[in-house]
Amino acid sequence: MDSLPWFHIERATREALGALADMTIANIAEEQANWSTGERPPEQGPARRAIETALFGPEPAARAFVAIAEGTPIGMAYVSELFPGRDLRRGWFLKLLYVSAPRRGKGVGSALIRHVRHAAEEAGAERLELHTHPDNEGARRLYQRLGMNAPPRIVYRYDL
Ligand SMILES: CC(C)(COP(=O)(O)OP(=O)(O)OC[C@H]1O[C@@H](n2cnc3c(N)ncnc32)[C@H](O)[C@@H]1OP(=O)(O)O)[C@@H](O)C(=O)NCCC(=O)NCCS
Repeated sequence: MDSLPWFHIERATREALGALADMTIANIAEEQANWSTGERPPEQGPARRAIETALFGPEPAARAFVAIAEGTPIGMAYVSELFPGRDLRRGWFLKLLYVSAPRRGKGVGSALIRHVRHAAEEAGAERLELHTHPDNEGARRLYQRLGMNAPPRIVYRYDL
């Protein structure tokens, strides 16, 4: 559990699926609006089913953490694992950090990162890593303030 009295952070259960779908869709829409990603936000139903399979299916791809205020999820992050990290240990990769717009600037995003970092340390991970868009200046300021470093990397991928 985390810090500030008006919200807490926990590992997401199936109960949070609707909220996870809503926030995931909102994030995809916001990224498209800001960075022209070309990704169209899915409908709620398909998003919810995809998230359910990814988090709770027979071969989970990720786990999720949610920030909850007065019973309502207001922020989230997905985490998946990297292997091999340094010394053949596992690493944690954080994907889609999101805080609902009216709740931003109140410490929720920072608390989510700190919570995930702590959970990663507890699990024996050797790093917590994330990517962000080079023009996402707000997010970059936040990560730098939290003491993350940005090792020089070029990301290559096939879009399949
Ligand atoms: C980035 C994000 C998760 C931060 O959550 P948050 O709860 O506002 O974060 P905190 O309150 O702990 O910290 C605030 C800092 O976040 C950053 N930030 C980025 N976008 C912001 C926004 N719209 N409103 C407020 N802060 C924002 C700023 O660096 C801010 O610090 P500042 O006061 O120096 O400007 C949130 O703004 C968000 O969901 N943005 C849209 C999705 C996104 O860009 N995610 C990151 C992709 S890698």
